[in-house]
Amino acid sequence: MKFFIDTANLKQIKEYQELGILDGVTTNPSLLAKEGAEPIEQLKKICEIVKGPVSGEVIGLTTEEMVKEARELIKIGSNIVVKIPFTKEGIKAVKILEPEGIKTNVTLVFSQNQVLLAAKAGASYISPFIGRLMDSGQNEIDMLKETMQIIEKYKFKSEIIAASIRNARHVIESAKMGVHIATIPFDVLEKMFKHPRTEEGIKSFLNDWEKLQKQLKL
Ligand code: G3P
Repeated sequence: MKFFIDTANLKQIKEYQELGILDGVTTNPSLLAKEGAEPIEQLKKICEIVKGPVSGEVIGLTTEEMVKEARELIKIGSNIVVKIPFTKEGIKAVKILEPEGIKTNVTLVFSQNQVLLAAKAGASYISPFIGRLMDSGQNEIDMLKETMQIIEKYKFKSEIIAASIRNARHVIESAKMGVHIATIPFDVLEKMFKHPRTEEGIKSFLNDWEKLQKQLKL
């Protein structure tokens, strides 16, 4: 399973890049706005840190605007993936961009039908927003399961990104069903690392070790 980090924060990206477990980054307009920096410059900096795919999203709503923006975005770096919102206009943009060799990530996907349509359009990546589905009271795990069945049954080239991840359990559930990628917020990655029993164990091993050292000196 590939791990992307869902953030535009350079410090957070660097930290996980240095750990050596980062395969890519996803951003969106809200995440970039949170950083308060000029978005293109920020994406450039992210592309310098991470060699894997870095998603930057288009703002335009028409196919023409999206295609124009995408052709500009890819100038930032060879690893830029263009995030396209799931709309009819967006799907038309995917059909134009993918044959040009521009990788797209269809975003704001909330149903299996949308997955099927984005896969048929030839998107490189498709991002079901499982956390937001859960927030609205729908079964996000079943949605993801059926998404994977559809993709695998027809051997679509699209890679599924479990997005809008809310907790560490979401990552486990995604991994169990073979979801290609999870894009994980920093706080969830931190929770995946921590377990109170690990900390407890380290402390007691060190205590016992110190006791032994004292005994041996006597
Ligand atoms: O990659 C999807 C993400 O950016 C949206 O997540 O947490 O705003 O639902 P969230």
